[in-house]
Amino acid sequence: MSAPTADRKATGVFSPSRAEIPQRTLRTDRWWQSPLIVNLGFAAFIIYATVRAFLQNNYWVAEYHYLTPFYSPCFVKWNEATQSGCIPEASHFGQFLPDVWWLPYAAVSLPFLLLFRLTCYYYRGAYYRSVWQSPTACAVPEPRAHYTGETRLPLVIQNTHRYFFYIAVLISLVNTYDAITAFRSPSGFGFGLGNVILVVNVLLLWTYTVSCHSCRHVVGGRLKHFSKHPVRYWMWTQVSRLNTRHKTYAWITLGTLMLTDFYIMLVASGTISDLRFIG
Ligand code: FES
Repeated sequence: MSAPTADRKATGVFSPSRAEIPQRTLRTDRWWQSPLIVNLGFAAFIIYATVRAFLQNNYWVAEYHYLTPFYSPCFVKWNEATQSGCIPEASHFGQFLPDVWWLPYAAVSLPFLLLFRLTCYYYRGAYYRSVWQSPTACAVPEPRAHYTGETRLPLVIQNTHRYFFYIAVLISLVNTYDAITAFRSPSGFGFGLGNVILVVNVLLLWTYTVSCHSCRHVVGGRLKHFSKHPVRYWMWTQVSRLNTRHKTYAWITLGTLMLTDFYIMLVASGTISDLRFIG
């Protein structure tokens, strides 16, 4: 793909005061490759997650108490007549939502998780580039003439990210509870491959959540004198370390979420059986 020549005049690098270069960019590398890969990755996750969230089946393995994170917490009322809604044992925190086809069983957590990732500083950087092309790559001028950044509605709302971080911590606690209570078998305690997958997924979700930029700010980033706050300074140091890999954790957790859900779906539907170590 070669860089198109901009048909727009008099803005950005085509301003009258700038050196006269007709090309949109002089970069000769494949600068469009990274945004393309990001778009494909986002599309794969969004399509998979949407389809699974609305399927309303194969989310719970009764024998071993495996619950997929895409259906947690499961709040939809069980309907005995139609045998639909959340299976009562899968609802660890009660049931109060109506059983309608357009409401995912995890309708309480999914919107917040979506907003948490949507307002994440890493994802913003990623989709501002790959979807909105603002800019598509460094030193590649933007296709639009005006730019207001995050100063107006709706983008000014991105500043609420820390509140979604707090909610994400609560949801991570719920996922942790699900993972711990999944060490079950019909005879009591049990341990299988599903447990390994659930626990690894939860640990990585915690790593992604704790490596959040808002978390870094909250634990110590906003302090002025670290010497007066030794504990918070230590916490800030640890979070900062994780934060350097925030992008990696963002992608890894998209992968482990899909993998965890897919594995539980296969076991729940009877397509494969869980590899059991105990029980
Ligand atoms: S900045 Fe990415 S989750 Fe907070």
